[in-house]
Amino acid sequence: MSDIQSTAERTQSRNSAGVAKATDRVASGKAPDTVLAPVITIDGPSGSGKGTIACAVAEELGFIYLDSGALYRVVGLASLQLTIAEDDTESLVNLAQTAPIEFKRSLSGDSEVLLDGQPVTQTLRRERVGDRASRIATIAPLREALLERQLRMRRQPGLVADGRDMGTVVFPDATLKIYLTASAEVRAKRRHKQLIEKGMEANIAGLLADINERDDRDHNRAIAPLVAADDAISIDSSDLTIKEVVTKVLDFAGNRL
Ligand code: DC
Repeated sequence: MSDIQSTAERTQSRNSAGVAKATDRVASGKAPDTVLAPVITIDGPSGSGKGTIACAVAEELGFIYLDSGALYRVVGLASLQLTIAEDDTESLVNLAQTAPIEFKRSLSGDSEVLLDGQPVTQTLRRERVGDRASRIATIAPLREALLERQLRMRRQPGLVADGRDMGTVVFPDATLKIYLTASAEVRAKRRHKQLIEKGMEANIAGLLADINERDDRDHNRAIAPLVAADDAISIDSSDLTIKEVVTKVLDFAGNRL
């Protein structure tokens, strides 16, 4: 794989210096945070619906959308393709720093992830890739490398970011923080439906076991574990429709933006 940065990444790099400095200034209390674009963070476990909700909220507000899990998944996918071992930290961190990742809109309006110019959006959803992503996400310097990429996405008019540590680590000064949950059983059923609709094989018991295992790892890892920020608003989506959750988030956002 080449380590040539894509156009999108180069553009983001130009913005990154300003964003990083502004972050530092705000952290040190020397500048008003009006310098920074507003951020809405949506954190939660796999299958809580955070991607769907974050995407819809971003669309509604005309904000940029950051699927941080896709970053971990792309690095996971690239590491599988390049047969980099799970414990080869140096190569994994190098990959996280240099992999040519782009987020784009497809002609049909869907958001698409490209790795080295190739669309990988569907491949990223595979269980094997998700599992690898969750494992490599425990490596501190790899998270550090992806942190830089995430901060560069913060641009006007605003950002909606979904993941595990968006409100706790990446954007602690976010305007609105949502912690989205749903029971493991509901999440397994949703995932099953998605896979069947895509014509892929799936079995609820297996999916539930995978979800529980991944939750356990994401919640209990030493670095940036999945946990609600102290100032996050929790929403349980188990018995809510997508529209109902989006409306709730927009209502909370409306009071703060
Ligand atoms: O949200 P997702 O299922 O696409 O994320 C895949 C894995 O990436 C998840 O199991 C843990 C990791 N991840 C993370 O550690 N921090 C994030 N902000 C997003 C994802």
